[in-house]
Amino acid sequence: MARTVWDSTVGKKTVMAVSGLIMLLYLVVHMIGNLKIFFGAGEFDHYAHWLRTVGEPFMHYEWTLWLVRVVLVAAVVAHAVSAYQLSRRDIRARPSKYVHKKPRASYATRTMRWGGIILGLFIVWHILDLTTGTVHPGFRPGHPYQNVVDTFSTWYGNVIYIVAMLALGLHVRHGFWSAAQTLGVGSRRRDRALKTVADVLALLLTAGFIAVPVGVMTGVVS
Ligand code: HEM
Repeated sequence: MARTVWDSTVGKKTVMAVSGLIMLLYLVVHMIGNLKIFFGAGEFDHYAHWLRTVGEPFMHYEWTLWLVRVVLVAAVVAHAVSAYQLSRRDIRARPSKYVHKKPRASYATRTMRWGGIILGLFIVWHILDLTTGTVHPGFRPGHPYQNVVDTFSTWYGNVIYIVAMLALGLHVRHGFWSAAQTLGVGSRRRDRALKTVADVLALLLTAGFIAVPVGVMTGVVS
């Protein structure tokens, strides 16, 4: 039964929609949390510490954080695998000989594919930059405020994050809309409202995330 659902196109699209919505929820929380940087190092670093102790004493140190990490990794893998398989299926379904060599994938589909690849690469860079510090000269564990200020004091840090946040906005805008259609929320009456929700969500998410590098670049956060 589960096998049949997974093998179907609708099944894979449902996996994409559900995993996408899980990541979206995480991103909304992450973006709001990041805005605490505007309240100073004390508050931001205290918040980062709380992320590790949340649920205590029932949960041990970092257990809740690891639970969230496991769910997120599962969502990323499910999303990427189904996206890859759906696009293979789409390519295979093309008629073999073109009269015109025009790609069949629409503008939106191509943007989603490239956007997904950019975001996948960004997540790897971002974790190496601000979680493990592998690519971050002078990284100080337990001092995320200073680490974030350092990241956005380099030109490449600003370029990488801002480009990724713009890709994120486009991806969420179309992805949210597609997920609603897959999950059967769309209808002639609701489509306009859904498009507005997708636009507003994408805009708030992008603006909220970009506020941090802009804050550092303008000296509001230092
Ligand atoms: C300007 C934008 C962003 C800033 C300033 C930022 C900042 C941070 C910081 C400081 C951490 C480390 C937190 C800690 O260790 O306590 C972190 C972790 C993380 N961020 Fe972001 N983030 C941004 C955008 C994003 C985006 C767009 C995504 C996803 C596409 C994302 C996904 C993650 C993930 C998965 C982690 C790792 C959590 C963990 O396992 O510890 N972030 N971010």
